[in-house]
Amino acid sequence: MLEVRDLHCGYGNAIVLRGVSLQVGSGEIVALLGRNGMGKTTFIRSIMGLTPPQVGSGTVIWDGENLTGLRPHNIADRKIGIVPQGRRLFPSLTVTEHLTMLKSARAKGGWTIDRVFGIFPRLAERRHHRGGQLSGGERGMLAVGRALMIDPKLILMDEPSEGLAPVMVQHLEGIIRELKREGVSILLVEQNLYSALAVADRLHVLETGRIVHHGTADELSRQTDVLFQHLGVR
Ligand SMILES: Nc1ncnc2c1ncn2[C@@H]1O[C@H](COP(=O)(O)OP(=O)(O)OP(=O)(O)O)[C@@H](O)[C@H]1O
Ligand SMILES: [Mg+2]
Repeated sequence: MLEVRDLHCGYGNAIVLRGVSLQVGSGEIVALLGRNGMGKTTFIRSIMGLTPPQVGSGTVIWDGENLTGLRPHNIADRKIGIVPQGRRLFPSLTVTEHLTMLKSARAKGGWTIDRVFGIFPRLAERRHHRGGQLSGGERGMLAVGRALMIDPKLILMDEPSEGLAPVMVQHLEGIIRELKREGVSILLVEQNLYSALAVADRLHVLETGRIVHHGTADELSRQTDVLFQHLGVR
């Protein structure tokens, strides 16, 4: 289980997160919603050790271990997968190379390249194409597939539905539910409220660095007007 406590973080003098606390239980899907620039990506990056919180200003506990201050690659070794915003693929590496580069020879977990191709047949067709040649949707699928190849127990997904056609968004929702059934925990950053409500057990809304609204999907599905206000959609 992931437990983030009272996280403060920023860039230089600019404070972005002003005390964010959030938990993701085993096999739980927790969504973090918020408008552009509210700090969602910064929150994910903090968990991965990429924007370390200032000393004494919050903790990140994963499986009982304090990750605060660990190097990013050590955090990834803890079976935490990430689907970064913008996908961060390598333009010159092929689909297959992206999927195999992180698979350790020792890993015995369930995810193989064939299994990833099984859930994303489009990637199998494009296996020899390079990162720079893929469409937005294909890049999104590859980013999810790459995260799965480390056999994650927790996946941090930063707007995975961005750039996907509606039918692919539904496909991704199905994959997220299947991962949940396998006991994988997911922190899902979304701006698409309906996509978040479709899969998440609990949701949080981040506004200028604070959680201003949270609840279960059942509770919040009856308060979509309030959520849309926070998200600036209406
Ligand atoms: N490397 C950086 N250096 C300085 N400021 C940054 C940096 N990255 C982000 N910021 C600022 O921090 C704030 C939060 O950015 P962040 O990327 O976390 O927002 P977000 O909620 O993910 O937005 P979006 O929905 O657009 O992805 C913004 O004001 C942004 O301009
Ligand atoms: Mg972002």
